[in-house]
Amino acid sequence: MKRKGVRNSHFPAVIFLATFFVILLVGGIHTGIVTFFNENVWGMSLSGVAKTTIVICYWVLIASGFTAFTTYQIRKAYEIPMKELAKATDAVAHGDFSVYVPALHTSENMDYLDVMIMDFNKMVEELGSIETLKTDFFSNVSHEMKTPLAVIANQAQLLLVKGDLSHEQKESVQDILAYARKMSDLITNILKMNRLEKQKIQPDQEIYDVCEQFGSCLVQFEEKWEAKQIEMDIDMEDRVYVEADPSLLELVWNNLLSNAVKFTDLGGKITIKEVSDEENIMFYVTDTGCGMDKTTMNHIFDKFYQGDTSHATEGNGLGMALVLRILQLCDGDITVKSEEGVGSTFMVTLKRKKDGMHERNQ
Ligand SMILES: Nc1ncnc2c1ncn2[C@@H]1O[C@H](COP(=O)(O)OP(=O)(O)OP(=O)(O)O)[C@@H](O)[C@H]1O
Ligand SMILES: [Mg+2]
Repeated sequence: MKRKGVRNSHFPAVIFLATFFVILLVGGIHTGIVTFFNENVWGMSLSGVAKTTIVICYWVLIASGFTAFTTYQIRKAYEIPMKELAKATDAVAHGDFSVYVPALHTSENMDYLDVMIMDFNKMVEELGSIETLKTDFFSNVSHEMKTPLAVIANQAQLLLVKGDLSHEQKESVQDILAYARKMSDLITNILKMNRLEKQKIQPDQEIYDVCEQFGSCLVQFEEKWEAKQIEMDIDMEDRVYVEADPSLLELVWNNLLSNAVKFTDLGGKITIKEVSDEENIMFYVTDTGCGMDKTTMNHIFDKFYQGDTSHATEGNGLGMALVLRILQLCDGDITVKSEEGVGSTFMVTLKRKKDGMHERNQ
């Protein structure tokens, strides 16, 4: 399909004319130089070999100049815009819809590459507005559902405490309460995820002891791991400082620990290890749980993905997506190693705060 007002060929006739002109010029100048030197400068004094060498050097120079000119044209016309486009496409693939690639020519002088770039910009803009519409819709619906859910949970709780219920009725009300809480957790996580996706920085950073924070999170799971008779092996330093938003990192530790406890069977073992050097802090959470297959490993950070269906009722698959987003905001990293039926290890890396090290030595 030919578009109106768009140049058909990317390389204009001017390149052909320039090449033709350069060849004419070089041919003429070359003949002139050789004649001049033959008659006036070296005459008969130079050997045939020397004369040939000078001519070869001269042509090498011309060829280099011509190559540099052509390379520059190709780079300007194709390589640079293509690299820009590749960078922008990669950003869009990672969910950034704010990218914009400028066109190379003005509207009167457009070629097909410009049209492609402009169509790409339009497409990204459309995708961005759909994404905003989607997240705003989720956000609004979630907000609206929060209050009725809280009322349902409160009323169910009241019925359990004060109602004169039979055993069966009690079980039904307990189910209502459990599902209302699950829905409420889901909504809280959706709202958290939406907020984190919009954030570019951590809002409330402070320097604090991350080992102490990990310890406090661990305590909250004590009842659960004891109920499953899980052996806990903890090896952490006394104090290691990090500069981050504590409420965000708390979500990371809570989800890693909740997964480790949830996916480890009765009588299993969970090992927590912290190793730090001058630059980085590494936390390892290892469990002897069910482990993961390749598909789960590939999708573990996807929103709403749950690999192990036997535990699907516990949680909603947003935990690891939240963890990854938080670590991206904190300039941290997470890697996972897992073997089906053997267990999993999650390694979180964070930047260590140097000032904290100073405090630590005091
Ligand atoms: N320690 C683990 N051992 C085995 N599988 C795991 C482990 N941690 C995560 N997974 C797998 O990754 C999936 C995604 O984990 P994620 O924490 O995002 O969701 P979830 O725990 O199912 O729900 P939520 O975190 O929202 O309560 C899990 O459903 C499970 O299949
Ligand atoms: Mg989880």
